[in-house]
Amino acid sequence: MFARIASPSFSLLSAFRMQRSVMRRSTVLPAFHRSYSTEATGVVMAKGTKRTPGDGQPCRIVVITSGKGGVGKTTTSASFAYGLASQGFKVCAIDFDIGLRNLDLHLGCERRVVFDFVNVINGECQLHQALIKDKRCPSLSMLAASQTRDKSVLTEEGVGRVIDQLRKEFEFVVCDSPAGIEQGAHQAMYFADDALMCTNPELSSVRDADKMIGILTSKSQRAITKSEAIRQFLLITRYSPERVAAHNMLSVKDIADMLGIPLVGVIPESEEVLHNTNLGQPVVLGADDAAAAYKDTVLRFLGQDRPLQYVSPKPKGILKRLFG
Ligand SMILES: Nc1ncnc2c1ncn2[C@@H]1O[C@H](COP(=O)(O)OP(=O)(O)O)[C@@H](O)[C@H]1O
Ligand SMILES: [Mg+2]
Repeated sequence: MFARIASPSFSLLSAFRMQRSVMRRSTVLPAFHRSYSTEATGVVMAKGTKRTPGDGQPCRIVVITSGKGGVGKTTTSASFAYGLASQGFKVCAIDFDIGLRNLDLHLGCERRVVFDFVNVINGECQLHQALIKDKRCPSLSMLAASQTRDKSVLTEEGVGRVIDQLRKEFEFVVCDSPAGIEQGAHQAMYFADDALMCTNPELSSVRDADKMIGILTSKSQRAITKSEAIRQFLLITRYSPERVAAHNMLSVKDIADMLGIPLVGVIPESEEVLHNTNLGQPVVLGADDAAAAYKDTVLRFLGQDRPLQYVSPKPKGILKRLFG
């Protein structure tokens, strides 16, 4: 499935780095980007803002984005929003993937969708009529995407109006973005204060993430109004340390070096993810490695130091060592 990558020093990687340094020469990183601790791994780790529920800090709009599709954004949106809410924060998750509604499935509330995001924008219902409260965690609400095929229904003015209303009621708004740079993706990132840039450990995914970092840096509302830049965090999804050791995937260090934004988490590849989705349960609620990695990601985002887990191959048992 993944292209074989001979070694981190192979020529494609070097070409990518050169291209990137040319693209970014003029980019000035915000102060936030200079204040991270560096772990023993040599990877620059994210240091989020220390927050406690009800601390009165302004609501933050967090976009879960990527360059490439299918990297795990919706899986992450469900777990990140649920993880924040289970820490006691008032959280609203919004599905921006118009026409391809999925977040409601990941949160197990697809049968409770009556009104959606577009109904609210068009004034066909009140915001509180469209918000669906999670039954397991009442501080989490979600706003479902519309099933319409017309993506132009998401206007900047309409989305801005809804976001302004949500800012008054919630501490975090988590926006599940569609892939790429079309209308829905643009609206999902435009109002963001923070961005979780999801990438799989493969070159095409990382390269597209790099383009998206450029777009966030130049086309978001914060960039246009020249206010403090969006805080961008790197989240590596579907990581397999065994395949990295076999030189079939890019390592955490390579990806972090290439993208140059602080690492907030590494989510391992896990068979439980699909199982959880089928149950309508966010991965973070499970008991496997991916669940623990999502919990760590949320805590790092909230300003806590957490060691990186699941980035080295698991020791093989005696039988595996003998028979491979
Ligand atoms: N950590 C993971 N381990 C295994 N499969 C994953 C993981 N994260 C996501 N997936 C799978 O990848 C696919 C795409 O995930 P999804 O969250 O829908 O991506 P996106 O929203 O970026 O399109 C789904 O089949 C999902 O089950
Ligand atoms: Mg999705």
